[in-house]
Order: sequence, then structure tokens, then C-alpha cells
Amino acid sequence: MRFWFLRCLNTPCFTALPCKLGEAAARAARSFTSTQTANRRGIAVSGAEIREDFISEEEERALLEELEPVLKRKRYEYDHWDDAIHGYRETERSQWNEKNSRVLQRVRDVAFPPGVKQLHLVHVLDLHRKGYIKAHVDSVKFCGSTIAGICLLSSSVMRLISKKIPTDVVDLLLPRRCLYILRDEARYSYTHEILKDEESYFNGVKINRDRRISVICRNLSEDNAE
Ligand code: OGA
Ligand code: MN
Repeated sequence: MRFWFLRCLNTPCFTALPCKLGEAAARAARSFTSTQTANRRGIAVSGAEIREDFISEEEERALLEELEPVLKRKRYEYDHWDDAIHGYRETERSQWNEKNSRVLQRVRDVAFPPGVKQLHLVHVLDLHRKGYIKAHVDSVKFCGSTIAGICLLSSSVMRLISKKIPTDVVDLLLPRRCLYILRDEARYSYTHEILKDEESYFNGVKINRDRRISVICRNLSEDNAE
């Protein structure tokens, strides 16, 4: 199954597709730590949050143990011209073992206020070490205001680019085992992408991108919340 509905590269909500940074914009791109998600005008991108070491090594191992057998049965997909992602396999899962359910509940408790209608299925995206995610906005039709993901196996750089002002570029370091949350402005007014290994720098430091698995919880859009 493909998760085409989750991402929109070429709908009216995102016209500059797929986003290719010009030299100037690339120079303007600045890297920020988790506590400094300011863009180059010094304005914080509200709604971008990173919690380092959100899961322990042990919890990471337990998640991988449950996921590997499912992922291994699938092949990495490449080169669909309209896909937002290159070099990936994915699945979604509603039933988790007890230990992993507890971790996911922790994600949900941190990311969503009580009573918010959430997608029951957790999205699991396995990015090949040479894979990457192009700039996109998650479908506003199917996903609500919040995207919360834990990052397994590899650190990476997530780039946010303002849809209105493409020179407003914010890089976020997503360390292995972190939780990141994109809400509101960061979710709707910026595209997000995961850089390929060759482009993966943060504050001038190379961040080696290996195979990376993200485990993502989302809430429902208003349209789908009834
Ligand atoms: C997505 C996405 C980011 C990640 O699947 O839409 O942006 O952390 N994923 O894998
Ligand atoms: Mn996305």
C-alpha cells in the first residue's frame, strides 16, 4: 500500500514543487539547535519542537524488534516522479506490543491535548540510507494540525521552508531517538523535508545519514474528525 494521500507536493497549498533551494537561499539557510528554532529574520517558527533522547536505547531496540519483520518483507521504492519520498518503504500499525504501546502513548500524551481526535494508525516510514524526503506539506484533508515523530537508527536534518517566503529556511537537527513535533505554523506554513546524506549538514557539521525509521502519530483533520 502506498501512502500517497499523506503528502501533497503539487496541490494549491504548495506551488513551488518540488522545492529546490537556490544558492542564495541555501546560503541564507541557517541551522538551529532544538532550543533555537528561529528563522533568518530572527522570528521563531512557532510549532516546531524537538525533544532529545525521548526514547532510550532499550526502547529503540524494542520498537525495531517489532517493526523489522514487517519492514523486511517490503522493498524500498524509488523514482516515482510525483512521490515526495525517494528510497523508502512504509507501513502503518494499530496494534503494538505492550512495551511499545507505552512509548507511543507517551508520544501522544506529549503531542496532543486531551480530547483531540487522533489517527489510530501509526505511520512507520523506513528511509534507505540513500533515501530522502522532498519538501512537502502533509495533506490538510487527511491530517490535522499536529505531526509527531520519533526517529530511530539515524540522526537527520529536517529543513523547513516558508511557503510564502522561500528564503526563510530553518534547519532542525533531529538526533537519533528524539521526538519532533510540527504544529500549526510549522505544519501549515512551512514545507518540511529530510535531507539526503550528501546535503546533511547542521551548523556546518556533517550529519551522517544512515538508514532511518520514523514512527509518526498524527491527529485527524477537522474534515475527518466527525
Ligand atoms: C511524511 C514525513 C517525516 C519523517 O511521511 O510525510 O514528512 O520524519 N515524514 O519521516
Ligand atoms: Mn510530511
